Amino acid sequence: MEVVIVPDATAGGELIAEAIAALLSRKPDALLGVATGSTPLPIYQALTAKVRSGAVDASRARICQLDEYVGLPAGHPESYRSVVLREVIEPLGLSEKSFMGPDGSAEDVQAACEAYDKALTEAGGVDLQLLGIGTDGHIGFNEPCSSLASRTRIKTLTEQTRIDNARFFDDDIAQVPRHVITQGIGTILESRHPVLLATGEGKADAVARTVEGPVASVVPASALQLHPHATVVVDEAAASKLKLADYFRATYAAKPQWQGL
Ligand code: GLP
Repeated sequence: MEVVIVPDATAGGELIAEAIAALLSRKPDALLGVATGSTPLPIYQALTAKVRSGAVDASRARICQLDEYVGLPAGHPESYRSVVLREVIEPLGLSEKSFMGPDGSAEDVQAACEAYDKALTEAGGVDLQLLGIGTDGHIGFNEPCSSLASRTRIKTLTEQTRIDNARFFDDDIAQVPRHVITQGIGTILESRHPVLLATGEGKADAVARTVEGPVASVVPASALQLHPHATVVVDEAAASKLKLADYFRATYAAKPQWQGL
């Protein structure tokens, strides 16, 4: 995988927004997989600025969700559908029609998972999948020991993830759903270009285990090592535990610019 160390979250957001812009210029109807959480917000802000200035035409872009809580009432402000509508679809001026995601309020959750996995394939596959990382190394909501071959399915959150996400639910862990739907690791690995952004010292351990540890389901993000074109963008704080940080810096500094990410 390619590891790019950037000075801060804003620079990471800008770099990834540029990669999305380049993708949209060669494939205007690209399917862009988006992640939630705080980390990707600088990407959406940078991309929105490019769209508003006319530097990027995202009008034909298609957006798809990575994961979703199970059981939140429709329209709940913290359902990931609501978050993506608020942070991505509306700022980019897209319509809900260009957006697909799993139905977290379906009665038959398993059928909803299977339908979503199939819909992604039928849509031609995800061109670029944005990812954050949990402090426990999860991607999407694939918690530790998720099968590396997993497809979109229901998962149970770890206590740590519920604690981490309580900040979106009035700091009240009781309000954080226990169950979620997530694209599986196998599903994520089918995207043409997974791009993980990690910022802040709290992610340094998970990043080091993802990049420099063995591929192991106990660190779900380490599965990205199996992808032929995976990019990990980290700020200095999130890179602070990488033993090969200097090598990654030198490699990226010497990279021909035309290659992009
Ligand atoms: C949630 C999401 C993940 C995200 C993670 C980290 O668990 N399901 O997709 O990567 O949070 O969130 P943050 O970026 O806020 O640290």
